[in-house]
Amino acid sequence: MNVTEGLRNDHELLRRRLARLEQWLPAAYAAPALIRNQVWLLALRAEEHLAREETLIEALRDKLAPETRREVAWRLAEHQDHWQTLQTLKGLIERNGAGAADHMDQIVAYTAHLTDGLREHMAEEERRLFVMMDRAARHGAEAARPASAESAGAIEASPAMSPPG
Ligand SMILES: [Fe+2]
Ligand SMILES: [Fe+2]
Repeated sequence: MNVTEGLRNDHELLRRRLARLEQWLPAAYAAPALIRNQVWLLALRAEEHLAREETLIEALRDKLAPETRREVAWRLAEHQDHWQTLQTLKGLIERNGAGAADHMDQIVAYTAHLTDGLREHMAEEERRLFVMMDRAARHGAEAARPASAESAGAIEASPAMSPPG
């Protein structure tokens, strides 16, 4: 079994949750309590997943080849954006009483931002990072080489995503 198997399963569950939430978002003002509840649940699941992923990355760190470390740096920069969006969303939800539609424009905008960001991020992880992590876990010792100057430069140049305007 690949070490990223559990993370891939998380992605499938998250995708289903994202799809359901997207269906409901147009009804945000008609059913604010439902939306707030579903966004809150998505936030909890996403946080659990990010933490699980970061724990596995940390456990494999010494085994990662330079190109994988560069990939990790990009994905972790995106995690920072996700963590920030999740905090903002939870803050917006907590500020309201149950059923309140206050801040719904912001909740919808941040949820859409999170949804788009997570989808792209998960696809990219499955396409590149998870393949590299599985390989590192299988052949750890031979993949471990010191990071090159080129890799270090690429890490510094990692883009951070910006929140919705
Ligand atoms: Fe991730
Ligand atoms: Fe992920």
